[in-house]
Amino acid sequence: MDRSLLLSGMMASGKSTVGRHAAAKAGVPFVDLDAAVEARAGQSVAELFEARGEGAFRELEALVLRELLHDGVVRVVALGGGAMVARALRHECLEHATVVTLGASVETILARAQPFSTRPLLASGDPRATILRLTQARADAYAETHATLSTNDRDVDTLADEALAVAHRAPLSMPIGQRSYAIDVVVDAPERLVDVLAGLVPSSLIFVSDSNVDRCRGTALRPVRRALSVDCIDVVLPAGEEHKTLTSVSTIWEAALGHGIDRDAVVVAFGGGVVGDMAGFAAATLLRGIRFVQVPTTLLSMVDSSVGGKTGFDAPSGKNLIGAFHQPSAVVADMAHLQTLPARQRISGLAEVVKVAVCTDLSLFEFCERHAHAIARGEGGVLREMVRRAVAAKARVVRDDEHEDGLRALLNAGHTAGHALETAGGYRTWLHGEAVAAGLVFELQWLAARGLASRIIADRTEALLRELGLPTGATPREWAAAAGYVAADKKRRGRHILVPTVTALGGGELVRVRIAELEASLRAGSPAAP
Ligand code: GLY
Repeated sequence: MDRSLLLSGMMASGKSTVGRHAAAKAGVPFVDLDAAVEARAGQSVAELFEARGEGAFRELEALVLRELLHDGVVRVVALGGGAMVARALRHECLEHATVVTLGASVETILARAQPFSTRPLLASGDPRATILRLTQARADAYAETHATLSTNDRDVDTLADEALAVAHRAPLSMPIGQRSYAIDVVVDAPERLVDVLAGLVPSSLIFVSDSNVDRCRGTALRPVRRALSVDCIDVVLPAGEEHKTLTSVSTIWEAALGHGIDRDAVVVAFGGGVVGDMAGFAAATLLRGIRFVQVPTTLLSMVDSSVGGKTGFDAPSGKNLIGAFHQPSAVVADMAHLQTLPARQRISGLAEVVKVAVCTDLSLFEFCERHAHAIARGEGGVLREMVRRAVAAKARVVRDDEHEDGLRALLNAGHTAGHALETAGGYRTWLHGEAVAAGLVFELQWLAARGLASRIIADRTEALLRELGLPTGATPREWAAAAGYVAADKKRRGRHILVPTVTALGGGELVRVRIAELEASLRAGSPAAP
C-alpha cells in the first residue's frame, strides 16, 4: 500500500485490535493514536480530560495525527473515536490516507467498552444514552470515509484483510456527510463494479448506456449480470449530445416503471457525460429518487461529469437547463474503457482537467504541463494519475459547495462561451470538451483584455490546451453564431453572468460580466477589448 490506513469509528468498535492485526499482516508500523497522544502528553487520556478538558485533548490529538499523516511513513493508525469530528482534519486525512470506518451496534460497543471507568466519555451518566448520542452526533464524520466495515460478528482476521484491501485500492472520496461516496479509479478490474453493486443490495438494476457504449463496452457488464442474481433492465439510448433530451429520459423512466421497480432499485449509468447526466436525472426522479452508480466510460465523464451529482438534460434553448442535484452512491471509473474510446473523444475530455486545474489546483496544472505529450498520447500510467488528481480536485470543490452557491461555479470556466458554441453548432460540430477548450481561451483572453484575468495565465492555458491537442479558438462566424446563446445560460443573473477568472494559477474567482458586452465580443469574433 502507498498510503497509510486510518481506522475510524466509535470507541470500542475494534480499531486497535483490527489495526494491530492489519499492520502485522502488511508489515508496516502500527500506531494507536490515543497511546501516541498519551506518550506526547505524559498523561493518560483520562488524566488529560480531567486536567485540561476535551478541547485541549483534541488539539493535541490533531497535532499528533497531522504529524503522522505527513511524515512520509506508511502505517496503520487506530484513531480515537472523536478524532474525525473536526471537519478540516477529517478532509486532510481523506486526502492523504485511506480511511476505513469500523461500524458496530450499540450492544456490541456496550459489551466491548467495559470497564466504563477507563473511558472518559462513559465514566459518568448512562453509557447507552451517551453512545447513542455520540453515534448520532458523529454520523456525518463517520460517513465521510473511503469504506465502512461492520464489525458485528466479524472476526479480526477478515476485517484486517478487508481494511487492507481498501488501502491497496486507495479509492478517492466525496465527503458530503451521509451522502458521501467512494470513487474508484481502477485498471481493467470488472470485479470492482460487481463488489460495489453487490454492496448496495439492489432489488433490480437498470443499466443505462448508449448505442456506441453498448457496442464497444457492453461485455464489461457481463460479470455483474453473472454475479448478481437480480432483475436487470437494459436501456440503450441513441448516442450523441443531440439525444440528451426529455424523450431519452422518458425512455429510461418507462423502462424502469414498466418493469415495476421498487425504491431499492439501482440505476447504473454506463457511458459518457450524456448518459450519466440523463441516467442520474432519471434516478433522481423515479419514485421521487432512487440510488444510482456512475460508471463513466469516457475521459470527460471520469474527470468531471460522473462526480458531483449534477444531472439533467438539454432543452431546445440551451444545454442542461433542466436537471437536479442527485449524488451517486458510488463512482467506478475503469481506465480499460478508454481503450476503445476514439482519440478525439479522449482528448476532448482533457479540457475539463485543464479547467479544474487552472481554477483550483496549481499542482495539477503543472502535472499536465510536465506530462502533456504522454497525456495527449493517452499513456496509461500518467493518464490514471491525471484522472485521480482531477477527480480529487473536483471532489474538493464539490465537498465545499455541493449546490453551486459559490466556489463550484469555478467549474463553469469556459462553459459560458463553450456551451454557446456547442449549442450553435447543433451539438454536431463540437465535442463538449473541444467547445470548453475554445470557450476557456476566449473567456480568459476576454477577461485579460479587460484587466480581469492574468494575461500570462491566459496564454499559458492556451499553450497547454494546444499541446494537449485541443482547439483553442473558433472562426469569427462560429463565435458570431454562438453569441445568440449566451443569454440562455443558466448561470445568468438578469443582465449579468458570473464568469470564472484567474489572476493566480489554481486560485480562480468569479467576476460579474455584462452579458451584452460578452455577446458583442462574440459577435465580433474576438476577445480583444473594443
Ligand atoms: N461540471 C461542472 C460541475 O460539476 O460543477
